[in-house]
Amino acid sequence: MSPAIEPLTVPALDLKAQYATIRDEIDQAIRGVVESQGFIMGPEVSGLEAEVAHYSEVEHGVGCASGSDALLLALLGLGIGEDDEVITSPYSFFATAGSIWRTGATPVFVDIEPDTYNLDPSLIEAAITPRTRAILPVHLYGQAADMDPILDIAEAHGLTVLEDAAQAIGASYKGRRAGGLGHAAAFSFYPSKNLGGFGDAGMVTTNDQALARKVARLRVHGMEPKYHHHEVGFNSRIDALQAAVLRVKLRHLDAWTAARREAADRYRGLFQAYGLASAVGLPAERDGHFHVYNQFVIRVPDPLRDTLRADLAAHRIGTEIYYPIPLHLQVCFASLGHAKGDYPHSEAAARESLALPMYPELTEDAQRHVVASIAQSLQGQARDRSVAERAA
Ligand SMILES: Cc1ncc(COP(=O)(O)O)c(C=O)c1O
Repeated sequence: MSPAIEPLTVPALDLKAQYATIRDEIDQAIRGVVESQGFIMGPEVSGLEAEVAHYSEVEHGVGCASGSDALLLALLGLGIGEDDEVITSPYSFFATAGSIWRTGATPVFVDIEPDTYNLDPSLIEAAITPRTRAILPVHLYGQAADMDPILDIAEAHGLTVLEDAAQAIGASYKGRRAGGLGHAAAFSFYPSKNLGGFGDAGMVTTNDQALARKVARLRVHGMEPKYHHHEVGFNSRIDALQAAVLRVKLRHLDAWTAARREAADRYRGLFQAYGLASAVGLPAERDGHFHVYNQFVIRVPDPLRDTLRADLAAHRIGTEIYYPIPLHLQVCFASLGHAKGDYPHSEAAARESLALPMYPELTEDAQRHVVASIAQSLQGQARDRSVAERAA
């Protein structure tokens, strides 16, 4: 008989635990903005832009209203639009392809590597057509895509590379930080990101001064100077309140990243200790990649995953499925003419992946509870299967 699992609630993400550690700093920063009554642009916004750019080892940061807008503004700033194609991953958050579509361009999907969930560079060349303008790799779950071959292909074909770094602030690839690996990058400061605001916010980073200027203009209705409009843009500024919160949090980001990485190591050790290391696929961390574990995603063969998720919920353990429907099978992209089977690795990941609780304050006790509960569920499912097989 397996030992009883002790009661303990482990949420998928615990933002209250993080806030508790920085409450005074945050409250002071918010009060500063409120006292100034300067809510739009101003020193907090320019300060955050400079600090994130410096952190990501690029020259320019342009804050905007969300990570989705950062992608859209960067694509538009790069001149991508109707009749263009942009190569990207079908296994990502919707905004990755949605932003391409919004410009009028067509997302062209290329399957992922099964172990890292990132764009497979060896499949890109076959997807290039005379209409291809850019490659949009996603640094999924906090690990950079394999950028060198992607950059080589882009250079050989005269394409631009825009990183979707929404989940990867602080990640690095061969010693270079995410956000400065391509021509431009988009960050999200959605609350669940490693650097998360108190609402929506995002940023475009780039070393291209002209692009930074264009993006900065597009986020204020294409206006420069006041009331002179060069093109039709958006209202997509980042709030000063968000910038103030994010500047406080940025000071803690490296410590939080270290804590996430320690939690990832502890998960690996626990899966080993519970004899689950081969039953469950653990996240691959490639050589030369500094993974920042926005998510710790395991693979559980179909059909065990959904029962496992329900069993964990019964043990008050929060999990999430990223992403249950790959982008090529989304209804809104039906006109692209894709069918099941087109991107098998993405489809398998959608069926099998399960994100476990992951946040810097996650304790070893909580992780033990998670892994013990996984062991119990998988053993129970194996038992049920063998009973059913014997009965058949
Ligand atoms: C990979 C990826 N791209 C883009 C986005 C969009 O960011 P946001 O939610 O800030 O619009 C997100 C986050 O949700 C994401 O995870």
